[in-house]
Amino acid sequence: MSRKIHCLNPISQTGLKLLTADYELTDKAEEAEGILVRSASMHEMELPAGLEAIARAGAGVNNIPLDKCTEKGIVVFNTPGANANGVKELVLAGMLMAARDINGGIEWVKENKEDANISKDMEKSKKKFAGTEIKGKRLGVIGLGAIGVQVANAAADLGMKVYGYDPFISVNGAWQLSPFIEHVTDLDDIYKNCDYITVHVPLLDSTREMINKDAFAKMKDGVVILNYARDLLVNDDDMLEALESGKVHRYMTDFPNPKVTHMPGVIATPHLGASTAESEDNCAEMAVKELMDYLETGSIRNS
Ligand code: MLT
Repeated sequence: MSRKIHCLNPISQTGLKLLTADYELTDKAEEAEGILVRSASMHEMELPAGLEAIARAGAGVNNIPLDKCTEKGIVVFNTPGANANGVKELVLAGMLMAARDINGGIEWVKENKEDANISKDMEKSKKKFAGTEIKGKRLGVIGLGAIGVQVANAAADLGMKVYGYDPFISVNGAWQLSPFIEHVTDLDDIYKNCDYITVHVPLLDSTREMINKDAFAKMKDGVVILNYARDLLVNDDDMLEALESGKVHRYMTDFPNPKVTHMPGVIATPHLGASTAESEDNCAEMAVKELMDYLETGSIRNS
């Protein structure tokens, strides 16, 4: 008899096509032996009695009730690194858009496109939208997992001086991950020295709202913050205050939180980091393989 898999979110067909004849996709969550999920929250869901494993097509597992799963012996997989390149590319776009007022320039052209004198007026706009270059600036990367390291390497390639902090990685470990990262053991060194700070940590009790009033107090005036990881890593009331005072020059975020998105220094996207064809395929493929492997052999590979 075929094993029953339920897909809580639509995930890439490239991954689903890997399911062999031993598996059947079912619409009925209650009969699932394996669940594939992207970002849907499973916290309120009644876990099916026969559920053996959940595979998340993504890195973070905060949408999955881990305690409940442990209690019931349900194994949880994620797909670390599978979407790292997609997220890295959006972070780089964010960094470049923070340095250059690309967004302001695009809006200006849209507003003035009917103006016969647009070419003449353009000269004035050049001054208004003038930016800075990221080459030579200091980037602090908090969290040196797959995404953090890729961001660090790409930023170093663009001429940035990169500092990295990760309490779970030794100096030697960080060097092995990337020779371009200057590893710091004190997070304050990132806060005090960096022009750009990007967070790439999971949402845990220890990281929740880590970017807050106390952290801002240590940062340079006019710092740029990038959050393409998890919404709740940033305290939005404190961020609003920091934007109003000019402490934060720009907040580039993949979370459209209404408390801050009205501010001119904020450019927000609706959690698009992993939304590329390639990342979606990679995540779905890895998740499906992990799930089948476990259901067939009991192997816990978490790629
Ligand atoms: C992740 O945790 O990797 C992302 O949230 C993936 C996604 O956007 O689904």
